Amino acid sequence: MIRRGSACGKIILLGEHAVVYGFPAVAIPVRSLQTRAELSEGTAPLRITAPLIGLDAPMTNLPSGHPLAVCIRLTAETLGMAPPGGRLTITSDIPVASGMGSGAAVSTAIVRVLASAAGRNLPAAEISRIVFAVEQIHHGTPSGVDNTVIAHEMPIYFQPGEEPETLAVGAPMHLLIADSGVHSKTRIAVGGVRERRDADPARYDGLFRQIGGLAKEGRAHLESGNIPLLGKTMDRCHELLRAIEVTIPALDRLVEAARQAGAYGAKLSGAGLGGNIIALADPPLLPAVETALRESGAADVFRTDLEP
Ligand code: PMV
Repeated sequence: MIRRGSACGKIILLGEHAVVYGFPAVAIPVRSLQTRAELSEGTAPLRITAPLIGLDAPMTNLPSGHPLAVCIRLTAETLGMAPPGGRLTITSDIPVASGMGSGAAVSTAIVRVLASAAGRNLPAAEISRIVFAVEQIHHGTPSGVDNTVIAHEMPIYFQPGEEPETLAVGAPMHLLIADSGVHSKTRIAVGGVRERRDADPARYDGLFRQIGGLAKEGRAHLESGNIPLLGKTMDRCHELLRAIEVTIPALDRLVEAARQAGAYGAKLSGAGLGGNIIALADPPLLPAVETALRESGAADVFRTDLEP
């Protein structure tokens, strides 16, 4: 019997980096991009095939701290069963190392397929908890925003230390996500911010507070459906992300191109130093914004929409 589990991608709308220091962030699911986990039940040990990372091996060959092995073990423990046998195949449309949550989506899809094999439906909060534990292997000190938005598959307002709030958008929202083609590890960007913050805590804490303030403000615009003001909030957030030195010329070029082509606003999204920018625009302008992004060096452009 074949079981299937899947999970969406994500982007951070507002609040990246500051969220690591306790300030709020807003993140949204990207449902047009999916990771799929397929389990064909069979004999133990489980064989894992993940072409995206060039893996095709029995689980028993993986180091015990390997993220996939940890994810499977933790899920099996939560479900009160032994890891299943057979073959687990993982495929994904989500670009890796570009701030779209590919790692958290892989873990979420695995948790879901194992739960399905056990005939169980785990609540989003439980899935999020397991995925967070795996994210700690990838990123060291993740804020928890990726696992939360991907497990809930809803826009979220994430205040560290509090229950995440799912948000309903007040008006249709159309975003383009442009991949700079520059790969960057979240751990490196987060580490650099930490070094600069340790050297000048007063300045950095002030900047984080302002970024958190924009997340709070942006949440209100998202919920009330004031898309033009949400765009302005994104523009201001990009400037603060510049102040903490996580933007690079390739990202700035894309942000500027989107604004020139008529976007309501644009900013880098995620850890920065590479990865993606996001641009908010009215549907009639989306083709022009997309063309401008491609002409300004975007390696790829994805669209995602949120409806009330
Ligand atoms: O994984 P990314 O690129 O979406 O970046 C994560 C966002 C940060 O705020 C920089 C780190 C975190 O753990 O929230």
